[in-house]
Amino acid sequence: MIKKILKISGWFLGLMFLFSCDSGDIYPKEYEHNEGITAAATFVFDNPDAFPEDYPLIFGVFGDKQSIPLASVRIMKPKNNEPVKVSIDNISPDTKFLMLCMTDLGRLSKFTLFEKDINIELAGDSIVIPETNIKLVSYERIQNLVFEQYTCVSCHQGTIGAGNLLLTADKSYNALVNKVSSKNPAKNRVTPSDTGNSFLLEVLEDEDLGLTQPHTGFVTRNDDIVLLKEWIKNGCRR
Ligand code: HEC
Repeated sequence: MIKKILKISGWFLGLMFLFSCDSGDIYPKEYEHNEGITAAATFVFDNPDAFPEDYPLIFGVFGDKQSIPLASVRIMKPKNNEPVKVSIDNISPDTKFLMLCMTDLGRLSKFTLFEKDINIELAGDSIVIPETNIKLVSYERIQNLVFEQYTCVSCHQGTIGAGNLLLTADKSYNALVNKVSSKNPAKNRVTPSDTGNSFLLEVLEDEDLGLTQPHTGFVTRNDDIVLLKEWIKNGCRR
């Protein structure tokens, strides 16, 4: 009987000992244990010559598309156009979107190249975007980041537009591609795969054209001029 009591109390002491040892560990253990969700993606960039250098390109998790990201990583131009792998650990429970976007210096999106809606409750341990091709040259990017961002549309709108040219979203493509310039009828405004016969580029870059409205100061980022050139070189896809 006594033996049994001793045995039980021995167990008890042992348990206490174990328990007290363990309890000291609880906090650090919880810290070590990573319960966060990881967002990962792999991107391959089409038209790498139009990779943005003036606009930071970021992969980020967002609660709201118009706000700065909850967390983000910056993507630099890969060597030899290798696939780029990015990931963000422990993403916020407020995450609603993953986006790859060109931003301003304050990390607000200026142009989104890829986006995916996220339901964080159904996400599991990780959200993985499989290898995805990203078109760096698109007409949408030109419309947004050139004609609208630099407010070309404020003059080139209405029924005729300044210089007889409309640059609003539904009109600009047809007004430019394979259309003769009104200022210099020897040239087209834009000719697919022929930057030399694309008066648009001269208007933006050549100070000596004698336009009634000089245009050379309008486009302030080299990225946007490169974009126009790459778009023309690659055949002016819509
Ligand atoms: C302040 C008004 C204004 C703004 C802003 C403006 N333009 Fe113009 N644009 C004109 C005027 C006026 C002409 C005609 C100039 C002339 O005939 O000498 C013109 C002519 C042109 C032409 C030549 C058209 C042709 O057929 O020869 C192109 C191309 C053009 N603009 C593109 C742009 C782009 C791109 C932007 C924005 C980056 C822009 N413009 C911003 C007023 C403007």
